[in-house]
Amino acid sequence: MELTNKTENRSRMRRMALGMAAGSVGLFLLAGCHIDMWVQKKVKPQTPSEFFADGSGSRPPLAHTIARGGLKTDEQYFTGYTGGQMQDGRLVGATYVETIPLAAYRAFDSDKHKMLERGRERFDIFCSPCHGKIGDGKGMIALRGFNSKRPVGNYHTERLRKMPIGHFYDVITNGYGTMTPRAFQVEQADRWAIAAYIRVLQTSQNADPADLLPEKPHTMGAPAPEAAKE
Ligand code: HEC
Repeated sequence: MELTNKTENRSRMRRMALGMAAGSVGLFLLAGCHIDMWVQKKVKPQTPSEFFADGSGSRPPLAHTIARGGLKTDEQYFTGYTGGQMQDGRLVGATYVETIPLAAYRAFDSDKHKMLERGRERFDIFCSPCHGKIGDGKGMIALRGFNSKRPVGNYHTERLRKMPIGHFYDVITNGYGTMTPRAFQVEQADRWAIAAYIRVLQTSQNADPADLLPEKPHTMGAPAPEAAKE
């Protein structure tokens, strides 16, 4: 009697263990195998969709959406203009800034020399092939068959010498006439550094020889231009 009971108990336990094992394998399969996220209805990038009125599955960001870190409140620094009003996505009634915005100096640790050095380096890389190292519009490309409806700009004209610095920032950012925008290869702060360096070029190419006379105290006795030529 006892013997039979023991055998029955043992086989019942074995069945229970088997059942539990089978159950957990089943649970495991169920948990690991549901693919409803993969097969659910969804729109893949760049595919059409009848759901939206414009027929495109990809949605543009909502108006006034700003990427993290992309809030551009400093109008002068980011546009080169000041005093404008946004109307229908366009800046209206603005004038060029006359001085380099503070944010641009700060990007170079408020060190003017560092800024000008960087400006020269970037200018030589990105602008001099067309504009020439001194900005006279006689770069390698301009001299060797550059085909544009208008000649490459020469910075040493009365008009461009008087032009507020914001104009140079704007030309780099948005292009000018037949010159295409350069914003894609020149970063924000570097555009101001280049603009500042263009001012240096303009000054160097339009220097007043009288400034070099020894009696001018700030020249610290540099030789007069005639003497310097010898
Ligand atoms: C592929 C050749 C090319 C490159 C590179 C180039 N430019 Fe120009 N740039 C031109 C041409 C062409 C013009 C004349 C456009 C016109 O008058 O329609 C011009 C004109 C200008 C002017 C004069 C705008 C005016 O008011 O007359 C400025 C300033 C200027 N470029 C700055 C730059 C700076 C700064 C860079 C470098 C970041 C640069 N350019 C790179 C071809 C180039």
